[in-house]
Amino acid sequence: MAIPQEFISELRMRADIVDVVSSYVKLKRSGRSYLGLCPFHGEKTPSFTVSPDKGLFYCFGCHVGGDVIGFIKRAENLDYIEAVRLLAQRAGMTVPENTADNGMSRLRTRIYEANRAAARFYNKQLYTDEGREGLEYLRGRMLTDSTITHFGLGYAPKSRFALVNHLRSMGFTKAEIIQANLANETRNNNAIDRFTDRVMFPIIDLRGNVIAFGGRTMIKDFKPKYLNTSDTPVFTKGNNLFALNFAKNEAKGTLILVEGYMDVIALHQAGFRNAVAGLGTALTPEQANVIRHYCNEVILCYDSDNAGQMAVSRAIQILRPMGIGIRVIAVPNGKDPDEFIRSYGDQGPARFRMLIEKSGNDVDYRLRKLQSSYNTDITDQRVGYLSEAAKLIASLDSSIERDVYISKLAQEQGVMKEAIQEQVNRIVRKNSSSAAKREFRELKKQIIAENSAADRDKYISFGSAKAEELLIALLMNNVDIAMDVFRRVPPELFTSAFNRKVYEIIKSNAEQGYDFSLADISGSFTDEENSRIAHILFSHTRETYPQQAAEDYIRKMQENSERITRDQVASADDDELRRMMAQLKKKKT
Ligand code: CTP
Ligand code: MN
Repeated sequence: MAIPQEFISELRMRADIVDVVSSYVKLKRSGRSYLGLCPFHGEKTPSFTVSPDKGLFYCFGCHVGGDVIGFIKRAENLDYIEAVRLLAQRAGMTVPENTADNGMSRLRTRIYEANRAAARFYNKQLYTDEGREGLEYLRGRMLTDSTITHFGLGYAPKSRFALVNHLRSMGFTKAEIIQANLANETRNNNAIDRFTDRVMFPIIDLRGNVIAFGGRTMIKDFKPKYLNTSDTPVFTKGNNLFALNFAKNEAKGTLILVEGYMDVIALHQAGFRNAVAGLGTALTPEQANVIRHYCNEVILCYDSDNAGQMAVSRAIQILRPMGIGIRVIAVPNGKDPDEFIRSYGDQGPARFRMLIEKSGNDVDYRLRKLQSSYNTDITDQRVGYLSEAAKLIASLDSSIERDVYISKLAQEQGVMKEAIQEQVNRIVRKNSSSAAKREFRELKKQIIAENSAADRDKYISFGSAKAEELLIALLMNNVDIAMDVFRRVPPELFTSAFNRKVYEIIKSNAEQGYDFSLADISGSFTDEENSRIAHILFSHTRETYPQQAAEDYIRKMQENSERITRDQVASADDDELRRMMAQLKKKKT
């Protein structure tokens, strides 16, 4: 492994998992553990557990788990080494350099560097003869020079080799430029610029790295209007938001979510520096997970066309279960925020401020939308509206909130509050019983899926694999008896390939004199594997007599290994066969 074990052990001790997790999740003590709302999926009742004793977290809702490094990897969307660096920085430690380099991390660094150089290059082009057109386009859209500089906007020249040649002259390899998706590879293996004759919008992550670009054509009706960086080792479209790097410091609890790059820039220029945009997709759960760290309220300001309104509904569905407050702005006359602000000239910012102040929360928004499809002057239709509205109100989780809207609706429609209340309560009762059933079905499905996934590599017997898991948990929790077991129990005794791998790694750590808690070994496993180990460790209760328990588990494993059936031989692959043969031979001697 690239980072010395000693360093990881020390980091694990200095970076207290409760402390680290607490800066992302509000934790409440519960016995020996802590409980909170899982930051990795939307939930209303806490199933996210942190055990300071074990140095682990595990979510019993979405089955994600791991050590403190695994937590940072997920929460900050980092790779292993980056997560170690971040934790080390927090703990005031320095990662031993040069050992920390592996191939992927080096490529990522090079891509960041290439992107930064490209952003500089594009920006400089604006002030050349060839790029003048780009500058004029941006100025024509009422952007000031300081806005252009602030966002690092630029221009990609018409020549197909301008950027490639520039980056090559700086020492970037063709492969690096292509991996950064700054160039496309031609059939005869040449690199040609991906972006040509477009104004360029760099996309910057929360740490200030340029991770991608959006390029807009200046030609009317030319398709595609925007060309964006495809996914690269440093960029996943659905995980990032444009301008969050600026907005996060200005949010003061509220972010404005709009659709376009130009909307964000126009809003920032108008003083709304808490605006961000998705990157050409409706809000994703991953993006929601990122923004929830920076705000407790989102103002949705999407286009009034059909697609925009669909996107609003979808965003509400994602944000509401996270407990994030939602307001929805309707920009009049089918304009987007950029066009709206521009159309009022100097008055633009004040006008937009008024829209915000008038904006309703999402329930108001949905009620209004519902009402617009009825003519409530006609009695029949009014009844129809009221019963649909009751359904909507019944879907709210908080009874206080339900009461607020019931009163509002009663007043608005001139009916008795009690009448609406009764109807809402009836629906709530019906929903909750069917919700309970649904939850039960979901749980059953999950258990079945989990079992069948686990069975895939438990080919000798379920009993053996269970004993193996128990032994692993026991060893990781009882260092004192572990050494003896490592000497006596060969990895071949493990029937599950996964369990065997875990055992081999903790054994090899122990033999080299290193610790082997999850944090010490998590670097050798994928995120999914770490979740699985965390689950094994979490489900395990400490044995009163560990020594005796270890003997029991080992005996069970030995008994199982002696029962190799013909079926198992028939279905075994080469590796398994070799293992079985070795065991048979051992038994004979
Ligand atoms: N988008 C994209 N690819 C396209 C069109 C749009 O990625 N071919 C994304 C861009 O992030 C864009 C956003 O969707 O900013 C919204 O699209 P649109 O409303 O068409 O663009 P505007 O941002 O309003 O741009 P402009 O005002 O320059 O037309
Ligand atoms: Mn626009």
